[in-house]
Amino acid sequence: MNAPAVTVRRRLRPGVYELGDARGTLALAAPPDTAVLGTLSPGARTALRALGGRETTEDELAADATNPAERAALLTALDRGWVIRTLHAGGHDLCTTVPFGPRRPHGPAPAPGRPRALSRFARVRRDGDDIILESPLADSRIVVHHGDVLRVLHDPEPAARSGAAAAAVAGELAAEGFLVDREAEEADFTALQWAPHELDFHVRSRAGRRTRAAGTGFGGTRWAKGRFAPLPERRPPYPGRVLALPAADLDRAARTDPSLTRVLEDRRSHRRHGTADPLTRDRLGEFLFRTARARRRDGEGPPVGRPYPCGGGLYEMEVYVAAGQVRGVPRDFYHYDPHDHALVATGAPPRTVDRLLRDADAATGGAGRPQALLVLAARFGRLMWKYEAMGYALVLKHVGVVQQVMYSVATAMGLAPCALGSGDIDLFARATGCDPVEESSVGEFCLGSLP
Ligand SMILES: Cc1cc2nc3c(=O)[nH]c(=O)nc-3n(C[C@H](O)[C@H](O)[C@H](O)COP(=O)(O)O)c2cc1C
Repeated sequence: MNAPAVTVRRRLRPGVYELGDARGTLALAAPPDTAVLGTLSPGARTALRALGGRETTEDELAADATNPAERAALLTALDRGWVIRTLHAGGHDLCTTVPFGPRRPHGPAPAPGRPRALSRFARVRRDGDDIILESPLADSRIVVHHGDVLRVLHDPEPAARSGAAAAAVAGELAAEGFLVDREAEEADFTALQWAPHELDFHVRSRAGRRTRAAGTGFGGTRWAKGRFAPLPERRPPYPGRVLALPAADLDRAARTDPSLTRVLEDRRSHRRHGTADPLTRDRLGEFLFRTARARRRDGEGPPVGRPYPCGGGLYEMEVYVAAGQVRGVPRDFYHYDPHDHALVATGAPPRTVDRLLRDADAATGGAGRPQALLVLAARFGRLMWKYEAMGYALVLKHVGVVQQVMYSVATAMGLAPCALGSGDIDLFARATGCDPVEESSVGEFCLGSLP
């Protein structure tokens, strides 16, 4: 008999073990997942054991599991995410499918006869010595061993017709969710609503089997310890002119502020600002003191947090102010120094300050340029020195945390607040000279007097 054009080698993925009960029913387990295989013949059990120990070809399996129907049913069950599978043809390996867990593909697999295309979520990248194919919608990653696989990705249909090996690769990629029915994918709202980078970010910045399978750490691992110095809490100062701000009288505020219930119930976004009585340096100072200063016990000693909570207590967020019309504060772009409670000019070109204020006007649907635009920027290294794979997600959560505290304090102070969500990172880089990979804007907030 001729050797088959394509051979498949399988082995159980690491961490999978067999469970049996008194009646001889077998199951596979890799907590929290299990799959019941039923009652297997002694030969099929031997074949299963072999798969646990080493890579096994179908011919080798057939030597033990001699009943073709039983063997086919066993392989179908195993191929739903329990085995690592390598396709081999023409004297070389083509690709290896490494599942993360039982397969739960999103959406329908391409129906026979329907044209297949690479999923818009799939991407090829290098991982160590491997070239891998991955997708946030797939329950496996595929290690590409041979360029023929890329040919199938590029043009699945003609490639699949060109021979048994390419057809087997196309079948594998379709079964794993990398080749899809293009029309169906583009008509599926739940998939289409996601930009590929956003879905990838979502599945990789939350715990789960994909994060575990990524093989890198996740969470507060302090991965950089011993390799890189942590960033100091205090941002290196800008050399520009310094405007000291008056501290808030918190005792007075505690006496005169509306209740928490009133603040929450009365809070709303105000996009227009009062022209008669604009924001003042004192009011801006009180607002920044109450929302963003580095707190010290009794006003002295080392910083002990800020008025808003922060994952890891690391306080990566910096506040900047584009002052458009603030009495006592010259029009400019400033960094808020939360330790000295002062504004420090960043040296932004005047046109950049105008652009920041103009963009805020556009983001509020033309409500007018804000008296002050607060820009939240993250010093990523503060968090990312400690947190692996989820540092940026944490930064975005902090934007919401800070904005809510700002809404509350602005409401209590009778000011006009409005969060913005679409700032321009290049403009921020121009206004500060920061490398966007080191420190970049991540949120905005308009502040002014009520009309
Ligand atoms: C993260 C975030 C981003 C926002 N971005 C904008 C924006 O770009 N433009 C705008 O006019 N309002 C923006 N808003 C304000 C919302 O439109 C507003 O909160 C929402 O309509 C509810 O109204 P309320 O705040 O008056 O209760 C944003 C709010 C949040 C929390």
